[in-house]
Amino acid sequence: MSDVFDSIVDMAGEVDESPLRRDHLDPCPLRQVEIWLEDAVGAALPAPNAMILGTVDAEGQPSARTVLLKAIRDGGFLFFTNFQSRKGREIEGNSAVSLLLPWLPLYRQVSIAGIAQKVSPEESQSYFSSRPLASRAGAWASRQSETVGSREELDLAFGKAEQNFDLNELPPHWGGYLVIPQRIEFWQGRSKRLHDRILFDRSGDEWAISRLSP
Ligand SMILES: Cc1cc2nc3c(=O)[nH]c(=O)nc-3n(C[C@H](O)[C@H](O)[C@H](O)COP(=O)(O)O)c2cc1C
Repeated sequence: MSDVFDSIVDMAGEVDESPLRRDHLDPCPLRQVEIWLEDAVGAALPAPNAMILGTVDAEGQPSARTVLLKAIRDGGFLFFTNFQSRKGREIEGNSAVSLLLPWLPLYRQVSIAGIAQKVSPEESQSYFSSRPLASRAGAWASRQSETVGSREELDLAFGKAEQNFDLNELPPHWGGYLVIPQRIEFWQGRSKRLHDRILFDRSGDEWAISRLSP
């Protein structure tokens, strides 16, 4: 067996002590996520808006994949995808989802639990139109999450989509989901494994704030 695990340096040894207290955080946790995202962009982290989306199927089996956070607005977190993909089908059956933003070099993560709602076709169209032509053709060509016979088959479908579809038009199976959060937890690594965890839990229009044990 490889000794790769022996050569991994534990991040806990390199913690830059920056305590996280409630009064350090914006009273609006969505704004606070934006502030941490700005920090991640400022630190030049790769793919700072990449987040892990968790969904659950009809048998209760969870699955996870990366999607890109495209906006924080109207009280939610926006991403775009294929509605007929595995995640899309699972969300249609159970709109409860999780999001995890891992900013590992900053020794930070934000985890979110919420409900995913489709955005309007107008909003999806507006974002779709801003994408490069190749991405639009890809959205038309890909039957995301389905088995495909070969790479050649995929390339062929892409070529056909480029010719046969109006690439300005929004595919009916493609668009945005806005995740309305119920819980947002901010995690900041500290020394001695006594990490800081501050939880915002929605209660009506208010957020109840508490500290969790690491
Ligand atoms: C960095 C990165 C960003 C991604 N962004 C998206 C995205 O915004 N939307 C999307 O549908 N898939 C995105 N993907 C691909 C998904 O992780 C996933 O493979 C795909 O959506 C199919 O997932 P599903 O079969 O679970 O539905 C991204 C993957 C990576 C690695």
